[in-house]
Amino acid sequence: MKKILITGGAGFIGSHVVRLFVKKYPQYQIFNLDALTYAGNLENIVDIEKESNYTFIKADINDAEEINQLFTTYKFDKVIHLAAESHVDRSITDPLAFVRTNVIGTVNLLNAAKDCWKDDFTDKLFYHVSTDEVYGTLGETGLFTETTSYDPNSPYSASKASSDHFVRAYGETYQLPYMISNCSNNYGPNQFPEKLIPLFIHNIVQGKSLPVYGDGKYTRDWLYVVDHAVAIDLAFHQGKIGETYNIGGFNEWQNIDLIKLLCEQMDKKLNREPGSSAKLITYIKDRPGHDKRYAIDATKINKKLGWKPSVTFEQGLSKTIDWYLENETWLNNVTTGAYQKYYDKQYL
Ligand code: NAD
Ligand code: DAU
Repeated sequence: MKKILITGGAGFIGSHVVRLFVKKYPQYQIFNLDALTYAGNLENIVDIEKESNYTFIKADINDAEEINQLFTTYKFDKVIHLAAESHVDRSITDPLAFVRTNVIGTVNLLNAAKDCWKDDFTDKLFYHVSTDEVYGTLGETGLFTETTSYDPNSPYSASKASSDHFVRAYGETYQLPYMISNCSNNYGPNQFPEKLIPLFIHNIVQGKSLPVYGDGKYTRDWLYVVDHAVAIDLAFHQGKIGETYNIGGFNEWQNIDLIKLLCEQMDKKLNREPGSSAKLITYIKDRPGHDKRYAIDATKINKKLGWKPSVTFEQGLSKTIDWYLENETWLNNVTTGAYQKYYDKQYL
């Protein structure tokens, strides 16, 4: 039985990847390693926790000794690495946390994999999940391709860029078999409400203001999280060792247009007067170093592996809103205590 280590599987994207692999591949033993930081939540994967091919390991990738020990004990065959500090705003207030987990944590995993696999790299793989933010920012036109130079602007994207470089370096220097995928903005169920879409859904439900950074004319390329998980599955199984795959939604939105669409859908779903959610829009101080525009050229994964998004943005957004409205307890559980402190510090 192949042993697949998935890191960060209690987080947003990781939980969707874990679910897909546990359900689709009964012939794999899936190990979900997660430190359960503020962003990790076992409720995200409660539906699969009793499956016989699933094991949860609470561990911190910053603890090199523990990570080495786990590789020695379980002898994982392949790794899908998602564990990370993932929020740009938090990286601006605490960059070192991002260096620790995203850079040093990744190197700890690379070292453990290299030492465990060094005698025989056959059928081994270190699959690293990264972001389009490593490419920096675009002007009005153009797209990020796999050959776009790295040009990160935030402590978060600098730490992810660094981790990508380390993965590649381990491939070149030690022949560690790796793959990297760089994806655009994900949205969907289980996203922690510090990110734009779930934060705004939560605030609309509560009748709180919707804090738009700067002029709101920043552009992101949005992808439904399940489509990202499917792309990872495809690249992991059919991609080429040593390659990078860009994953995106072919779906660019200026923040303010997206927010207006969200407001319209929320008014309908909550049976509120049309225009009532939009009244909550409040322009606030801009994010420092705010990247103007991201847009992914996903032609390579489309042409080589046949991947494309399965839902339109309107469909995906509607499913996402429904999920948050139906999972009020999930939302309430993650927005008490520490979340409130974070929120007050960031926005008040
Ligand atoms: P998330 O913040 O929702 O989840 C991160 C998970 O990692 C959490 O479960 C957390 O507990 C765990 N974690 C954090 N530090 C850890 C540590 N030191 N040891 C072990 N576990 C730790 O993040 P996400 O949005 O699901 O992103 C997952 C990955 O995908 C990240 O690498 C991120 O950079 C990348 N990515 C995210 C997006 C996006 O739009 N969210 C887009 C492209 C790429
Ligand atoms: O592009 C991929 C990246 O997308 C991932 O690597 C990151 O992990 C993920 O967090 C996301 O980064 P962004 O910074 O683009 O996402 P966020 O949801 O924080 O913000 C989206 C846009 O909305 C951005 O232009 C900032 C703006 N924004 C965000 C928040 C939280 C606001 O205007 N107000 C807000 O309160």
